[in-house]
Amino acid sequence: MEKKVTVIGAGNVGASTAQLIAASGLADVVLFDVIEGVPQGKALDLAEACPLYGSASQCTGTNDLADTAGSDIIVITAGLARKPGMSRDDLLMANAKIVGDVAEKSARFSPNAVIVVVTNPMDVMAQLTLKVTGFAKDKVVGMGGILDSARFRTFVAMELGVSVQDVEAQVLGGHGDLMVPMPRFTTVKGVAITELISKERIDALVQRTRTGGAEIVGLLKTGSAYYAPAASNFQMVKAILLDEQRLLPCSPYVDGVYGLDGVCTGVPTVLGKNGVERIVELKLNEQESSDFAKSVNAVRSLVKVIGL
Ligand code: LAC
Repeated sequence: MEKKVTVIGAGNVGASTAQLIAASGLADVVLFDVIEGVPQGKALDLAEACPLYGSASQCTGTNDLADTAGSDIIVITAGLARKPGMSRDDLLMANAKIVGDVAEKSARFSPNAVIVVVTNPMDVMAQLTLKVTGFAKDKVVGMGGILDSARFRTFVAMELGVSVQDVEAQVLGGHGDLMVPMPRFTTVKGVAITELISKERIDALVQRTRTGGAEIVGLLKTGSAYYAPAASNFQMVKAILLDEQRLLPCSPYVDGVYGLDGVCTGVPTVLGKNGVERIVELKLNEQESSDFAKSVNAVRSLVKVIGL
């Protein structure tokens, strides 16, 4: 195929992402992991599913980053997942080592790739990736807001008994406990939920969104969510591969908008073939600005810990 997407990390999130790409037939998929046999086995299984998907994608698994050379997109999912009771931030030191290493090495093999960073704490890992690769800022973007807003959409749809297809949601800030679900910008067929749901119930849905990842970790006990994260990754991959110019909540390097001077955090982002095409600045009210600032500051303090 013309396009090649590498997924780094053959765990649940990585393998599920690879599956969605393979099933779509939009690109060849290379699944990389350091564990011998696992990326090869999962990729072979996926290759054998392609005749049934009706997809011509070639799927290969490897322990050698050289096989990822010339990728159009690299999705980084490698690293540890949370255990019950842990926050995303507790993964910082271990995952910084893994992501820093793999991002730097894989970037050398695919100097023109767009890198989508998924590993937690995601915003910090995106900023680390930008630094170690030396890539232009529009070529590195984190995945978090799509997942968080998909959760918010789900909870709003459940609350109102309407289809999730008619619910759009906006979540800003870091993909952490202080993320900022935005009720004013969350709508059911164009009507803000502030017109449809009581403040108390909205507060409860906002809180459930903030702890949406932990809710699943608590249920699974041995890992974190992967179907919705993988679907979020795929939405970004597709937007870039097909130059869709979609407006999605992602975590690019935000510099000179929202009053920020260089930090990866969740903002409405237009994604297309160049990666981050532009950032859309929303007019925030006082409460939203203050919640956003708190969330960004939490990202900044982790960024400092790893000395970026
Ligand atoms: C979540 C993790 C993957 O939100 O960040 O489920």
